[in-house]
Amino acid sequence: MAPAIRIDALTKDYAVGFWRKRPYRALDRLSLEVAPGEVFGFLGPNGAGKTTTLKLLMQLIFPTTGRAEILGRPVGDVAVRRRIGFLPENPYFYDNLTAEELLHYFGELFGQSAADRRARIPALLDRVGVGAERRLQLRKFSKGMIQRVGIAQALLNDPDVVFLDEPMSGLDPLGRRDVRSLILSLRDQGRTVFFSSHILSDAEALCSRVGIVAGGRLVASGRLSELLAFETRGWELVISDARPELIERLGARVSRTIEIAPGRYTLELPGDAAPEQLVAELTTAGARLVSVNPLRATLEDFFVRHVTETGAGARAAFADESHARP
Ligand SMILES: Nc1ncnc2c1ncn2[C@@H]1O[C@H](COP(=O)(O)OP(=O)(O)O)[C@@H](O)[C@H]1O
Ligand SMILES: [Mg+2]
Repeated sequence: MAPAIRIDALTKDYAVGFWRKRPYRALDRLSLEVAPGEVFGFLGPNGAGKTTTLKLLMQLIFPTTGRAEILGRPVGDVAVRRRIGFLPENPYFYDNLTAEELLHYFGELFGQSAADRRARIPALLDRVGVGAERRLQLRKFSKGMIQRVGIAQALLNDPDVVFLDEPMSGLDPLGRRDVRSLILSLRDQGRTVFFSSHILSDAEALCSRVGIVAGGRLVASGRLSELLAFETRGWELVISDARPELIERLGARVSRTIEIAPGRYTLELPGDAAPEQLVAELTTAGARLVSVNPLRATLEDFFVRHVTETGAGARAAFADESHARP
């Protein structure tokens, strides 16, 4: 099967400077493929080149070199345009329209009949969680509500491939949860979703595969599970009913011991340890096993390390992640 999205050595130089224009390479030979039905997370800190890539795919700007295909056809192909949806990074709409009027307007642009639009639009606004406000002017909408209207707009033509630029930005925790479940329902319907984010937990919750960009270059890509498994650092055991002498006996086989409560401990084992053996020893001595977990690097650890290696300053970009704004 042809990939849903194929990006081949895509490069974009912007002309910067006022009098004397010089090229600034925002994207450097980016290549990647996304299979049909995949939820692909396009991750990177601010300024990495994510929006540039999405704009190139939407033909809002044009590449310096390289090419891209969607559904086996060159981007910009009219037949392809009908089958894709796009949420821009900071959607801005005519704010004297109501949510419903706006979607009717876009529906007309797509050539949808009035009957078709009347059937689809209320359901779509309900689905993104602004059904009750559909007769309200957009100027009265919060950032999060505008984002939801933008997602409805991106889904209006029932697209096979959906491109979302930072879909979770500006949303509160409930909004993020809603958008996540919406993306998963698109996946369940067999659609392909390509979304960008600088927030790693979004990708951890959603993606089958990710690509990580920094400084305009792809620094890693693959299945999240593989990228993370790669980084298993050790094991964490929680046990109860353990006597202190028992814990002392473990010695150097445990890299860290934390007493949570009398008799209850968290033990960290190094990555090369066999936790089964230690568990057997502990339970034979009368302790009870509460849990065993692999200690993995989070996607964020991975990210910071890779980006720091390429010198793109990920730490600064992530410093304000908890109240992330575009
Ligand atoms: N129109 C433009 N002219 C010049 N530089 C730009 C323009 N758009 C983006 N850039 C630069 O290109 C780089 C990538 O930007 P962008 O694709 O918006 O990153 P991201 O979406 O990952 O935050 C940044 O350094 C940004 O400043
Ligand atoms: Mg961006």
